[in-house]
Amino acid sequence: MITCDSLVYQPFQPAGDALACDGVSIESIVEHAGTPTYIYSARAIRESYRAIDQAFASYPHAIHYALKANSTLALVRLLRQLGSRADANSGGEIRVAERAGFSARDIVFTGVGKTRDELEYAVAQGVGTINAESAGELDRIATIARAQGRIARVALRVNPDIDAKSHPNISTGLKTNKFGVPLQDARAIYAARRDVPGLQFAGVHIHIGSQITTLEPLRRAAAALVSLALELRDDGVALEHVDLGGGLGIAYEGRPIIDPVDYAGAVIPELTRIGLPVVLEPGRAVVGYSGALVARIVDTKCFPDGRRFAVLDAGMGELIRPALYGSFHRILPVVPRPGAQQAWDVVGPICESSDVFARDRVLPPLQVDDLVAILDAGAYGSVMGSNYNRHLLPAEVLVDEGQWTIIRRRQTLEDVLALES
Ligand code: LLP
Repeated sequence: MITCDSLVYQPFQPAGDALACDGVSIESIVEHAGTPTYIYSARAIRESYRAIDQAFASYPHAIHYALKANSTLALVRLLRQLGSRADANSGGEIRVAERAGFSARDIVFTGVGKTRDELEYAVAQGVGTINAESAGELDRIATIARAQGRIARVALRVNPDIDAKSHPNISTGLKTNKFGVPLQDARAIYAARRDVPGLQFAGVHIHIGSQITTLEPLRRAAAALVSLALELRDDGVALEHVDLGGGLGIAYEGRPIIDPVDYAGAVIPELTRIGLPVVLEPGRAVVGYSGALVARIVDTKCFPDGRRFAVLDAGMGELIRPALYGSFHRILPVVPRPGAQQAWDVVGPICESSDVFARDRVLPPLQVDDLVAILDAGAYGSVMGSNYNRHLLPAEVLVDEGQWTIIRRRQTLEDVLALES
C-alpha cells in the first residue's frame, strides 16, 4: 500500500515561491494559455504507465489504456509510444485511438449500449476484441460480421455481483448495475454460440468499478473470471486472454491506496490457474495524477456566519467530479500568500449550488486574480467537460522535458455556434 506522499511521482510541486509542473512555472504557462487550463505532465503519465507495466512483468499481459479517462490526442499518442494498447468505449473513442496511431487490432471495444453503426464500424475495422455486454449484442455482432464476410473477435463481459467498495455511481459489478451478463449465465451463452458463424470467442471480460482502493474485490473478480475461463476451456472454447478491466484507484485524499505491485501480487496467482495472457484496462491510474486544472479567482466573499467563498473561472463544466460524486481534489494556490490559513468554500461560476470544488478547505489567504491548481484531475476531468452556461471548454497543455505545448486550444464561441442554425 502507498500513499500520496510516498512512491507516486507528484508532478505539481513548488519551485521557489510558486507551483510548477515538472519544474515549469504554471504562472508562465497560463500567462500565455489563459485560464482555465488543464496542465498535464508527460513524466507523470510515463511513470504511472511503467509502474503498472513493470508490476505485471512476470506475467504475459497487455495494457489497454482506457481512453474514457482522457482521450486528448496528444496523451493517447504518448501512451501508444509507451507501448500501450487501447480500450475504447464508443465509436468516437475507436476513431480517436486510430487517429492517435493505434491499429484496430490493438483496440478492445467495451461499453454498454453499442449502436449498430458503432458495431458495424468496429467489425469492419477488425477491432482486436469487442467486449459484448449481452447475449443479444453477441447475436447482433454475429449478424453484422456475416453480412461483412468477416469474423468478429469477441469476449463476453460478466457481472459477478461483487461490491467494488467504491462510490455507488462508479461501481459496476453488482447485480443491480446495468453492466455485463450475470456470471452464472455466461457459460450457457458461450456454449450456445460456440459454433455460430461470424464469431470467434477470444476472451472473457470483467470490470467491477472504478477508483477501487482495496485489493479483495479485485482479487475476487479475477478469481471469478478465471474460474469461468477454466469452465469454458472444459467446454472446448479456445480463449486467448482474460480481461480484468480497469479500476485501480489513486490517492486523491492521501488515503492508502493499492500499489500496482500489490494488485499484480493479488491477481497473478489467480491468473496462473489458467495461464492465459491478461488484458488490463487502466484509465485513472495511468493519467489521474498527471493533470491539474488551473483556474483564476474571479470573486471572493464572506457571509455573516463566517463562510468564505472563493469563486473560480472554472466550475463543474470543466471538472464535474466533485459535483457528481462529492469527490475530493487537492487544491493549491499557485503562489501561496503569507498569512493565517482559513477555511474556504472553493466554488465555480455555474448557476447550480452543486458547483462546488471544496467546502471548508483550509487554505492560505486568497484574493481575486490569484491562481489555484486543482490537482489529480488528469482522469475524468477534461473528458467530462460541458458547455453548460455557454462556458467554453478549456485549453490543455502538456509539459514534457521542460517544454510546454498547447495540445488542445481553448474552445471559442464560434466553435460552439458552428453547430447551430
Ligand atoms: N474498463 C471499463 C469497461 C470501464 O468501464 C472503465 C471505466 C475502465 C476500464 C477504466 O477504469 P479506471 O481504471 O479508470 O477506473 N467518471 C468516473 C469514473 C467512471 C469510470 C467508468 N469506467 C470518475 O470520475 O470517477
